Parts: sequence; C-alpha cells; structure tokens
Amino acid sequence: MSILIKNGRIITASADYEADIYIQGESIAAIGKNLNYEADEVIDASGKLVFPGGIDPHVHLDMPFMGTFSSDDYSTGTLAALHGGTTMVIDFVLQTQGKSLYNALEEWQGRSNGNCFGDYSFHMAVTDFNKDTKKEIVEMIEKEGITSFKTFMAYKGALMIDDGQMVGLMKEVKKHGGLVTVHATNGDMIDKLIAKHKEEGKLSPLYHYLSQPEVTEAEASGRFTDMADYTGVPGYIVHMTCEGALNAVRRSTVRNQKVFVETCIQYLILDASLYEKDFEGAKWVMSPPLREKKDQKALWAGLNQGLVQVVGTDHCPFKWEQKLMGKDDFSKIPNGHPAIENRMELLFSEGVNKGKISLNKYVEVTSTNAAKIFGMFPRKGSIGIGSDADLVIFDPNEKHTLSAETHHMNVDYSGYEGWEVTGKCKTIVLRGKVAIHNGEVKINKGYGQFIKRGTTSHVV
Ligand code: URP
Ligand code: ZN
Ligand code: ZN
Repeated sequence: MSILIKNGRIITASADYEADIYIQGESIAAIGKNLNYEADEVIDASGKLVFPGGIDPHVHLDMPFMGTFSSDDYSTGTLAALHGGTTMVIDFVLQTQGKSLYNALEEWQGRSNGNCFGDYSFHMAVTDFNKDTKKEIVEMIEKEGITSFKTFMAYKGALMIDDGQMVGLMKEVKKHGGLVTVHATNGDMIDKLIAKHKEEGKLSPLYHYLSQPEVTEAEASGRFTDMADYTGVPGYIVHMTCEGALNAVRRSTVRNQKVFVETCIQYLILDASLYEKDFEGAKWVMSPPLREKKDQKALWAGLNQGLVQVVGTDHCPFKWEQKLMGKDDFSKIPNGHPAIENRMELLFSEGVNKGKISLNKYVEVTSTNAAKIFGMFPRKGSIGIGSDADLVIFDPNEKHTLSAETHHMNVDYSGYEGWEVTGKCKTIVLRGKVAIHNGEVKINKGYGQFIKRGTTSHVV
C-alpha cells in the first residue's frame, strides 16, 4: 500500500515548507517537491497544513477510579483521539497496593489488547514501592518497553506513595535509564481541607477547587524536583496548572536539572469561575482543579520559554450520571474531564490563531516533545524519512463548533459546548493507512498497536 500526499504545507517542530510526502507501507519513504511516484492513493493537501500525528501522553481509558470506570474504553477513546488528530496515546496502568506491577499490567492488557483504533503505550503507576516491585522495574523497561513510572503524591490510601518510596523508586528507575512522572499535589494538605469543608457542610463542586489551593501543587512540585535532583533521575510533572508549581521548576533549572512539564489544554483555556455554576461545575471537577487567569498566562509563557514541553489532556471522562455520584458531596464526584478529541483543534484555535504560540511550537508540544521525552523519537513525532507515517492533514480555515451532539467521545456532555473553533483535522493517516477522512472512519478496531518505548531520548 502506498500513498502520495501532494502540495501540503509541512510543519514540524523546526521546519515549515511545501512538499509532497510519499508513504510506502507504514512509513514515510520520500519527501520532496513534485514527487512523481505511482501510488495506490493520492491525497491533494493544497491549502492544508500537514503535522506529525498528535501524541497525547496523558489519558485514562476504561480506568477503575473513585468507584466507577472512566467512560471511554480503548476503542471509543482511541477513535475519538484519531478524529481529533491524535494518533497515539499513553495511558496509565495502576498498580493495586499489595499486588505486583505485572498483575496490573495483565489487567490493563486484558482491557486494551485488540481494542484500539489508534496506537498506544502505557506508563506504569507505582503505588506500592517495595522490594518485590523494585525487581519489576527493569523488566518493565527492558521486556515491556514501558520506560516511564508514574507516581502520585495525593489520593492517599489508594495511589499515593510516601517520600521514602519515591526516593527508592527514583534510584531504581535512574539505574535503568527510565523516567519518573508525578501527580504533584500535597495529598495530606488536600485531605485536611476536604475534611474541613465537609465538616462545615460545604459540599458543592466549588469546594473541590477550594480544597486544592495553588500552594498544594507548588509545594509538591518543589519537593518532587528536589528529590529528583537528589537521586539524579529525569522527572516529568503531569497536568501542571499554576504559576507557583511552574516557579518550582524554574528554580530547578538553575541546577541544570532534567524536569519536564506537561500542562493540559483545559488549564490553558478554562478557569475556576466555572466552579461557580452550582452542580454543573462537576463537569470540570478534576485534580488539580482549574485555576486563575494569571496561571493561564504563566503556562502560555512557560510554553514559549521552553519550561513547559507538552500539552496533553488528562482525558478521564465520566458521564453525567457518574458525576451525580457526588451530587451531595463534592469529594465523591469522579475526578476528570473529556478532551482527547478536542486538544489539537483547541490548541490550534486558541494558541496558534490567537498568536500565543507559533506553528512550530504547536507541533513541538502536541507531538514531537512527547515522542522525545518518552523514548519514541524519531519513529513518532516527526515527519522524516523512515518515521511512521502518522500524519494530520489540517484545514487551518475551517470553522466549526464543539458539542456533545457531534463529538465521538463516550460522554454525554462537552466541557467545551458551543466553543467556536477555527481549524479542523480533515484526514488522519496512521502508520500508512488513512484512518479518518472527512469524519469517516477507514480502519477497524484492532489496527492500533502497542508501541514499545526506549529509554535513550529523554531530551528535548
Ligand atoms: O482529575 C483527574 N485528573 N483524574 C484522573 C486522575 C489523575 O489524577 O490524573
Ligand atoms: Zn493526576
Ligand atoms: Zn491523569
């Protein structure tokens, strides 16, 4: 199977030029002006932008959490991702405390194997670091191609590890060339605030926000970077929301430390005023919560300063009936919001079109940096000869409106209902196959592959 994409404007993290792309099998075979290869399929990309397929390194599909499961499974979630230009996701396996990493991996494989439309990988969340888990780290890296280890500094009793476990894990991961990622908020401080608000009868979604003030994230981010510096492991802070946390990382740069930062689309464009909508605010109950305008400003600046390398989603959707589990108590609202399908178009519309980031920066933070940090570059995240032919053909001028009526995510509301967006993903190519064309799905469930990752390229 071969495809020739003609006359597109190719945008990578470092280049911007018009050329044709010739795809043979699963990868890019040639790039040049006026290529005249015979191809099984020719796509005219005149007037369109061509990006490397988006990589969202922070999603939770079919995940058991807070007494329920996130509502997109591997099939609906990876298909919605493809509609929105994301050709690969990295999901999280959660170790059950008291059980092994392999036990959790097998459980997650059971839900994901054969069910994905798009490519995927896993981070391994270590929730119980002990002498047995320690032995599994090297196997995860060398046998399974799972090279990033997620930690939680919050969600005590289920996912949180203490600082002793964190340092032990960091040392072990460092030894084998992996990366430690973190949900950096101070779980004990948050739990105290939750209990206080509940005692005072303050039970609406607004108190979810007020239970996780900026200091809880800034403190944990600083503590994490200090522990990473002490052990020498490269670190990655997921879903950063605020100026205080970013300043903790800024301080770590004077030590020339490798600490990468991910923010998520919602933290760049939504703010905490949404929690004032009574229970409707539950749509945006996520951890950490949405913040203030000044934090959005700091995050946009962070992208341009190279302090924030990745924009993900933390896609963790729950249907409205699931959100209602917390109708009378904000602490029972399942945490998370849907965005896997919206990230690329929203960031283009709100970031590139509004002059906040350049086209090259857009590609860097939606694809290339994630591929580099998570050990997949240049197979993924690049438009180059030999790279996987994962491409987004994008109309920068098409206007459309986001809505639960038209989205493909398995959730009955949108966090962005009615948003007017300029720029649309038109054709998505995944490993040499047209996966989506003008909204039509062209591949079958099971086409998505598990991608084993390496350890060598934790550099951006
Ligand atoms: O609210 C969120 N973020 N839900 C998913 C779990 C996590 O903390 O990433
Ligand atoms: Zn988290
Ligand atoms: Zn998450």
